[in-house]
Amino acid sequence: MDIPQEIIAIKRDGGCLSRAQIEQFVAGVVSGAFRDYQTSALLMAIVLQGMSHEETAWLTEAMMRSGRVVELPEIKRPKVDKHSTGGVGDKVSLILAPLAASVGLCVPMMSGRGLGHTGGTLDKLESIPGFQVDLSDAAYRAQLGSIHQAMIGQSADMVPADRTLYALRDVTATVESIPLICASILSKKLAEGIDALVLDVKCGRGAFMKTEAEARALAQALVKISAGVGKPTTALLTRMDQPLGNAVGNALEVIEAIDCLKGDGPPDLMRVSYALVAEMLRLGGICETREQAQTLMESAIQSGAALQAFRELVTAQGGDVRVVDDSLRLPAAEHCFELRYDGTEPGYVAEVDALLVGEAARLLGAGRAHAEARIDPAVGFVFSKKVGDAVEPGELICRVHYNASESLEAALNRLRAALTYSTRPVTIPELMIDRITGA
Ligand code: URA
Repeated sequence: MDIPQEIIAIKRDGGCLSRAQIEQFVAGVVSGAFRDYQTSALLMAIVLQGMSHEETAWLTEAMMRSGRVVELPEIKRPKVDKHSTGGVGDKVSLILAPLAASVGLCVPMMSGRGLGHTGGTLDKLESIPGFQVDLSDAAYRAQLGSIHQAMIGQSADMVPADRTLYALRDVTATVESIPLICASILSKKLAEGIDALVLDVKCGRGAFMKTEAEARALAQALVKISAGVGKPTTALLTRMDQPLGNAVGNALEVIEAIDCLKGDGPPDLMRVSYALVAEMLRLGGICETREQAQTLMESAIQSGAALQAFRELVTAQGGDVRVVDDSLRLPAAEHCFELRYDGTEPGYVAEVDALLVGEAARLLGAGRAHAEARIDPAVGFVFSKKVGDAVEPGELICRVHYNASESLEAALNRLRAALTYSTRPVTIPELMIDRITGA
């Protein structure tokens, strides 16, 4: 056993920590033997000196084992989950879980809440009246056995080390470190009891990683570490400069996800959803090629099997399943403002800045400025135009659904700043940037 300052000094001086030292650190974070100031010092040393892949894998495993690790041997289907690094309008999980369950996979999905400008899957689901995201372990397992999908929050006894470490990183400027991000993300996903993992690593204005180089480095590290601890993993690198799909805001995104499952989704959102489920099908051994996966997924949408799987999910978790056929049963905002193109000449949408749109949605009440803040499930935006679309003077760009009139002006200012136009046709950047596999 080393004393904490010896472990800190090794990393401060650019050395490598042993597996035992990393395990001692993580155990100390949970027990309190590592004081917050010592943990913060070590986190900063890791940010500045980095970690080898081996150290990162040991940190990931130690964090994963810091609490309860779910094992699901009774589930015979391939258990594959997806993690997205987060974006604006990203409601892919709501489409992906029922679609994947309808084509032979089991999706044991544990998700988070939204913070800052990005939305969280749990918040979106909770906009469905009655929907419960806290299930007992027995209910969770029973649901995975019967309908092959569950979407819940991670319980307090899982990965406690990440809760402490993330809270400290947030206030000590130590979030931006690929080893720490990898260990944080993967420890939580690997504690779910999955066989394989698909990652959507986003880059761009509305993403955690702003540049393609940063996102690629994160994706490569995630895939290598995850595969290294025995979980086959594929990452897709996708662009998040403008919102994904047309809707931003919790209930509005649920409506759009249901449209996708009915075969009437926006092309960009369908593209990312199909691409991710196709990777899940390949990792789960159900399909060998992308083409086979595409055929299977499209037939599940066309036959209504994927929508039926969504109905089963909502019903199993206590939600009002009538929302599927009647969106008026979801929370609706009292007011709607129509933002129109104020140019005097015809033009094209050049940018819909996802970061500013996310901030505008938060100002309306759709997101949180701090972890305890309450959200308004009804508010948000539905875009009629996206990057590259032609616009005529006075044409509708976006419907703003709002409740509190005092929030509207600030949100509109942010939204107007998010939108830029060009008089020349605009090339739409490729949404899918790359696919990174462990092989
Ligand atoms: N998301 C996480 O869960 N952890 C990080 O460190 C960063 C993003």
